[in-house]
Amino acid sequence: MHIHKYEKLWLAASLVLIVLFIGTVTYGAVGMGFEMLEDEETIEWAGADDPSPILNHPEFSDPGVRENEDGSIDVYVTAAHPNFNPNDIEVPADREVTFHVAAMDVIHGFQITGTNVNTMVIPGEIAQISTEFDETGDYGIVCNEYCGPQHHEMGGQLTVVPEGDWDGGDN
Ligand code: CUA
Repeated sequence: MHIHKYEKLWLAASLVLIVLFIGTVTYGAVGMGFEMLEDEETIEWAGADDPSPILNHPEFSDPGVRENEDGSIDVYVTAAHPNFNPNDIEVPADREVTFHVAAMDVIHGFQITGTNVNTMVIPGEIAQISTEFDETGDYGIVCNEYCGPQHHEMGGQLTVVPEGDWDGGDN
């Protein structure tokens, strides 16, 4: 069988393109450092009208700021339209802070403005995100998923204070 010279060229070019496409998709998926959340913790879900699994949870039943023995900090927050609880959070600068957020009714968002803390909060899952704040000051907390008529009012404040000024959390 005779294949025309130009046809061969086009065949070769399209093969190169396919390899390039696969390469860019692979690079975008794994090469750029994006990671899916792993070890996602779940929480029992009894429906939007029944927050009892959260109210009976050892941590979310009493949400707040806890200091661990190694100096890291866990912040437990519940989200129920149109409130975060607590909505006024204080943490010290330069410590590892992990936010754990559980939705009691519908999907919410949990974003701390001016930082890379930004996660969706899905009923039945515990959204977790760790960071360290090196700048003291006030940061706004906003819900960035439409969750109901007062979605725009759903927010709070995070205050990052110098180590010596920290109130020590709630534990
Ligand atoms: Cu919660 Cu929007």
